Amino acid sequence: MTTTLLTGIGLLATQDDEFGELTDAALLIDGDRIGWLGPAAGAPAAARAHDLAGRCVLPGFVDSHAHLLFAGDRAAEFAARMSGQPYTAGGIRSTVAATRAAPDALLRANLARLAGELHAAGVTTFECKSGYGLDTATELRSVRLAAEQTPEVTFLGAHVVPADTDRAEYLDLVCGEMLSSCAPHARWVDVFCERGAFDVDESRAVLRAGIAAGLLPRLHANQLTAGGGVQLAVELDAASADHCTHLTAADLDALAGSGTVATLLPLVEFSTRSPYPDARALLDAGATVALATDCNPGSGYSTSMPLAIALAVREMRMTPAEAVRAATVGGAAALRRDDIGRLAVGRRADLVVLDAPSYLHLAYRPGVPLIHQTWLGGVPV
Ligand code: NIG
Ligand code: FE
Repeated sequence: MTTTLLTGIGLLATQDDEFGELTDAALLIDGDRIGWLGPAAGAPAAARAHDLAGRCVLPGFVDSHAHLLFAGDRAAEFAARMSGQPYTAGGIRSTVAATRAAPDALLRANLARLAGELHAAGVTTFECKSGYGLDTATELRSVRLAAEQTPEVTFLGAHVVPADTDRAEYLDLVCGEMLSSCAPHARWVDVFCERGAFDVDESRAVLRAGIAAGLLPRLHANQLTAGGGVQLAVELDAASADHCTHLTAADLDALAGSGTVATLLPLVEFSTRSPYPDARALLDAGATVALATDCNPGSGYSTSMPLAIALAVREMRMTPAEAVRAATVGGAAALRRDDIGRLAVGRRADLVVLDAPSYLHLAYRPGVPLIHQTWLGGVPV
């Protein structure tokens, strides 16, 4: 097994309670794992050394919410929003038409292109949802193609009711044939619980059917309205309630007292010109917070985790340390993974090297490409 020693690490922000933040550090990569980390003076010998010249090293970002299986784009819809039109769930249907018409090769290439963007943005694990097929054949193609490129695949047949389709019949399909076709290729089940998509009772029925088929629940909750999505996510011990843009005091309490992560998606508020979620209230209440891109062609077409971090700091009053934690440990918690999101001996060597001496620069230098290298399982990509 080859060993590589990363030397000259100006700041190593491990996000691990035992190792904390180290200055003038080194890190040994042994195969796909971290073999050692600590002060540079104590570094062991290695087959190769790689001098990082004072740069900052973080765990790779964990993007726990993304919709990457689609064709086409909705730039015109974005432009209309910037001229005053509101965002609505209905725009999803135009992506559905393009996705159904696309051959596998095109969907696969689009996903690979977006995965490449995510890696260039420092992301080492990403989740990918279906939900732009909304018929059994295209949802099955979607989860299969997603599973080629990530283990974190989510079945989102309940994204919206497709055009010209009876609502009750569609819900029967999602909970029946579509679910049983897709479940073998997915780890998660998700529902867009929102005005214009699915209500709380419908969402509960879909999540319960998914759980019965062996999937783990997560939920799009409280994006456009303070509906009952967050409460439902907590009721079902979902790994994550995502968006959380409109929360009541009871929602805050429920999240804080639960194992459900509040996943915030500030690139969506940016791209839909919406108010940002109250991250400060969530953190102060004791909830676990994650940051993710929600990259999708409708509500926010960005793979930039660094921009999400900068927005979380500037617009949502998270400290830079809290935002980095949410993009690493928080994302791992939202995927119920403990092998990623922090740097410690024995964990996966998934890490990001910043072209900066500290992670403060992610928010201090917004929009600047600061990702020097992304290492996936001990290999630079
Ligand atoms: O997370 N909210 C549901 N799904 C996406 C948007 C999908 C779309 O508009 O195409 C989201 O924002
Ligand atoms: Fe989403």
